[in-house]
Amino acid sequence: MRFLVDTADVEEIRRAFETYPLSGVTTNPSSVARQGLELPRVLPAIRQVIGADAELHVQVTASDAPGMVRDAHALSELAGGHVFVKVPVTRDGIKAMRRLVGEGFAVTATSVFAARQAFLAGAAGVAYVAPYVNRLDEAGGRGEALVRDIATAFAGEGLATVILAASFRDVDQVERCCLAGAGACTLPPALLDALVAHSLTEDSVGSFERDWVARFGSPALLER
Ligand code: E4P
Repeated sequence: MRFLVDTADVEEIRRAFETYPLSGVTTNPSSVARQGLELPRVLPAIRQVIGADAELHVQVTASDAPGMVRDAHALSELAGGHVFVKVPVTRDGIKAMRRLVGEGFAVTATSVFAARQAFLAGAAGVAYVAPYVNRLDEAGGRGEALVRDIATAFAGEGLATVILAASFRDVDQVERCCLAGAGACTLPPALLDALVAHSLTEDSVGSFERDWVARFGSPALLER
């Protein structure tokens, strides 16, 4: 299971990379816009924090296929290293994906809300498909079922395309998508923290420390 952090905030990315075993970063036009900085400043700053080998997924903003292809070239100049060009699964998006895969770009098909969209993107040869779990749940669909359906179909076809589950509100959604066959999940920093938290873990650690201090007077392992 791979985890990525879903934010364009460089300090949040730095803190997340210091703590968690992350494969990379995902951004989208909204998260970049929230930073109030242009891409030529944001992307090199993110790359500096995560290093050349980590994945950096950045989305095109054009809505027509030729514009998406142009955006992809610009993004790969700016983001350096291991870049994944995020392309929405629109009609033009599929056309751009085919072209970009043919040119050797690593592509992430994004804004996936139906298995049929993932199948087309997979057939176009993309590296990842990104189903939006919480947005689908909130619209009355079932994000976890979407992940399971895509995973079953890709496994049946022997497709190398990986499911990068995205858009989460809580850790139960994340856990269920991992079990449903997502190969990767991208999470905002607060959800990464929530993923590791468990009250029984905290209780156990607290009781170990209390017993230790009661016997040895300090939490240190050895006398100094
Ligand atoms: C994925 O790459 C998207 O940026 C993201 O997960 C969307 O999440 P949201 O629905 O919380 O905005």
